[in-house]
Amino acid sequence: MTVGFRLNGEEVMIQAHANTRLVSVLRETFGLLETKAGCLIGRCGACSVIFNGRLIKSCLVPAFRAERSEIMTIEGFSLSDGYRDIIRGFEKAGVENCGYCQTGKVLAAESILARQRIPVPDEILAAFGSIRCRCTEPERLTEAVLAAADLRRRRIYGRSS
Ligand code: FES
Ligand code: FES
Repeated sequence: MTVGFRLNGEEVMIQAHANTRLVSVLRETFGLLETKAGCLIGRCGACSVIFNGRLIKSCLVPAFRAERSEIMTIEGFSLSDGYRDIIRGFEKAGVENCGYCQTGKVLAAESILARQRIPVPDEILAAFGSIRCRCTEPERLTEAVLAAADLRRRRIYGRSS
């Protein structure tokens, strides 16, 4: 079937079988290899993307569900100032990174920061609950998102509150 959607700001169209996963389309059709095909059973979060403003695991979503949706992958997000805030926040907090689920961690952070100017630790922990990261403890991720939120507020509003 033909499926049209917006991917990283551009209108695209694909042919997809009913059982094709979104992660496969992103990687194989569009070459977006930072959207990782990890566990493929919804556990690790390495395949995370922002789908209509929400963090989802693209290994669990059939490609046809993308019809008329808006999808942002880490490749698209990495061109933004918001991405740089998050990376700097991660660096400030000393977030460890083997690369396996970095995509999921960054996009989970963005899924919070897009909604909350001043996120609270419980929300941050809840957002990261869907990412299985062996490298970074939850407290450090919380510290990183708070640092990124502070950087974003200073960049947008010129102050930290
Ligand atoms: S590859 Fe999708 S959650 Fe692991
Ligand atoms: S970055 Fe290593 S498992 Fe998450």
